[in-house]
Amino acid sequence: MEIRRACLLLIAFVFSYSSSADSEPVWRWECISGTCQKTRITNETRDSALSLPACQLFCGEYGRLWPQPTKEYYTGNYLLHLNLNSIDLNYPQDKKSTALANLAFRRFAQQLRGLVPSGKSTRGGRSLVVNAQVEDPDIIRLTYATDESYILKINELSDGRVNASITSNTFFGARHALETLSQLIIYDDIRNELQIVRDASISDSPVYPHRGLLLDTARNFIPIDAIKRSIDGMAASKMNIFHWHITDSHSFPFVSKSRPELTRLGAYSSSQVYTEDDVRDLIEYARVRGVKVLPEFDAPAHVGEGWQDTGYVACLNAQPWMDYCVEPPCGQFDPTKDGLYDVLEDIYGDMVDLFEPDVFHMGGDEVSNSCWNSTESIVSWMSTEKSWGRTATDFVKLWDYFQSKALERLYRKTSSNIPIIMWTSGLTESENVTAYLPNTTYIIQVWTTAFDLQIIELLQRGYRLILSNYDALYLDCGFGGWVQGGNNWCSPYKGWDVVYSNSPALIAGTYKEQVLGSEGALWTEQVDGASVDGRIWPRLAALAERLWAEPSTGWKAAEERMLIHRERLIGMGIAAEALQPQWCLQNEGDCPAPGRALESAAVKRV
Ligand SMILES: *[C@@H]1O[C@H](CO)[C@@H](O)[C@H](O)[C@H]1NC(C)=O
Ligand SMILES: *[C@@H]1O[C@H](CO)[C@@H](O)[C@H](O)[C@H]1NC(C)=O
Ligand SMILES: *[C@@H]1O[C@H](CO)[C@@H](O)[C@H](O)[C@H]1NC(C)=O
Ligand SMILES: *[C@@H]1O[C@H](CO)[C@@H](O)[C@H](O)[C@H]1NC(C)=O
Ligand SMILES: *[C@@H]1O[C@H](CO)[C@@H](O)[C@H](O)[C@H]1NC(C)=O
Repeated sequence: MEIRRACLLLIAFVFSYSSSADSEPVWRWECISGTCQKTRITNETRDSALSLPACQLFCGEYGRLWPQPTKEYYTGNYLLHLNLNSIDLNYPQDKKSTALANLAFRRFAQQLRGLVPSGKSTRGGRSLVVNAQVEDPDIIRLTYATDESYILKINELSDGRVNASITSNTFFGARHALETLSQLIIYDDIRNELQIVRDASISDSPVYPHRGLLLDTARNFIPIDAIKRSIDGMAASKMNIFHWHITDSHSFPFVSKSRPELTRLGAYSSSQVYTEDDVRDLIEYARVRGVKVLPEFDAPAHVGEGWQDTGYVACLNAQPWMDYCVEPPCGQFDPTKDGLYDVLEDIYGDMVDLFEPDVFHMGGDEVSNSCWNSTESIVSWMSTEKSWGRTATDFVKLWDYFQSKALERLYRKTSSNIPIIMWTSGLTESENVTAYLPNTTYIIQVWTTAFDLQIIELLQRGYRLILSNYDALYLDCGFGGWVQGGNNWCSPYKGWDVVYSNSPALIAGTYKEQVLGSEGALWTEQVDGASVDGRIWPRLAALAERLWAEPSTGWKAAEERMLIHRERLIGMGIAAEALQPQWCLQNEGDCPAPGRALESAAVKRV
């Protein structure tokens, strides 16, 4: 790499240069000391002039790749003109993943087409043949055990075609390889053509198996198209879990086949719903992109709208809300009602049919003792049926009663006792968690801060964790308060640098193996389909690299590639937030303050 940085790049082009006065290119880029420097094109340098993306490809340790690869990265110094109209895939035929691979390849071709500015020609250049060797092409379900690794090699065949060879154990690895391949193809706006790296050898696999986005679609409705855009962004960033917080107390947009009245009453409108077809379509859309959809049905709190006629929800929109819950409208299941569990079983059954989950999220967020304690029928049941009092301990028992019965109903619908995810709460505090949530069944998702002692205590007790600590990974922080003035509760805004620096390995120390990964979380009280892209992107991509590679370097080393990836997301139609003036992208290394010591120290706990 040092040699490459020191030398002027020698890049071979096979092209015909046509100049016309009005589009005569003015600028070229030169890789000097690891950064691309903007320079005037002269008569002498015209033929060898590098476009900015061509320079980026070979300059810097990982070129234009996001996330950075983890094992081997070699890309030579040569580019070839690529013919977009002649690209083919050879993938194992008549296997369970064959159709997925064909769709993934179609998406790959679309991504390449998207690189070409409208009105520009896509003709001429070399053919590309992608040869995929997949060890187990019948695997189409992503689990924590799925091998997502891949090897990608590119070389030139004697007949002039470009040979991209992919070796992987699964479709999921092969799909990631296509993503990497797409990042090795650029549009050269000096020569107006697509170009592909001629020689490459890349070996890559993720560090963490759970690399996710949590999206709340109940506080505000998020249209399916907007969800799909985020799944596209996840695919481009090699993320793999879409955690769908599909219901909450504000609305119930999920159409339960067996309990449609919940949606009829609980959706914001009859069009702001997710039908069975919508859900199935989204699951397949995500699968093609290497993403699994993980459903959450949050309970016993975070319920309300939709349940009006059942009598199963206590404190429904109780006022003043702050006496009974953390945000309006309040609502919490009444665990003493036997009929509740029949309804839950139906909803679980519908969700299991659709999502075919290998893990299920049961929520368990923000349960309020005061809601239950203020409901006369509940406290009298506790006293007469259970001889319980009204202390905090008694309400933990009531919650446990609910959780045990709900879990039993879920397991009637799943073919095996799949792991359950629950949020950190009073139930996951060290003194309670082993009694109520056995580490063999439960995975704990941490929303509390990276410094929360609970994290280490849970790890010591053998729990597997998913980190969504709000001090780094809540994407909704840093806006105005909506139930009071000032800023919202988890302000300030978490910049991409903060997201990038949130290292599970540093947080978990010697227990790193028990961390499955992380999720960036977008709660949608203050976002809807109109603004969701910019709230998520490009910050979620910062998390993608942290989880894929767990780099030992900080965000500064990734800054140039982050800007490139943000442009890539924009090119895919995702309205990602701008991070810096475009000037910084075109003048690498000139924006960071010299000797800047601002790089956030990553959190270290153990
Ligand atoms: C560059 O080449 C053009 C056309 O060949 C010529 O007109 C022009 O004077 C040259 N410019 C310089 C600075 O030599
Ligand atoms: C393509 O490249 C792979 C990996 O280098 C190689 O094994 C394969 O033989 C090549 N294909 C052809 C047709 O040469
Ligand atoms: C429940 O309410 C009773 C009566 O007001 C009170 O004595 C008790 O402390 C409350 N329990 C909790 C956990 O707050
Ligand atoms: C743990 O459970 C006990 C009752 O067993 C309860 O008093 C306590 O509040 C719980 N811990 C937390 C932090 O909620
Ligand atoms: C899970 O918890 C049990 C006790 O509740 C403990 O004996 C066991 O070691 C824990 N598992 C792990 C992997 O730590």
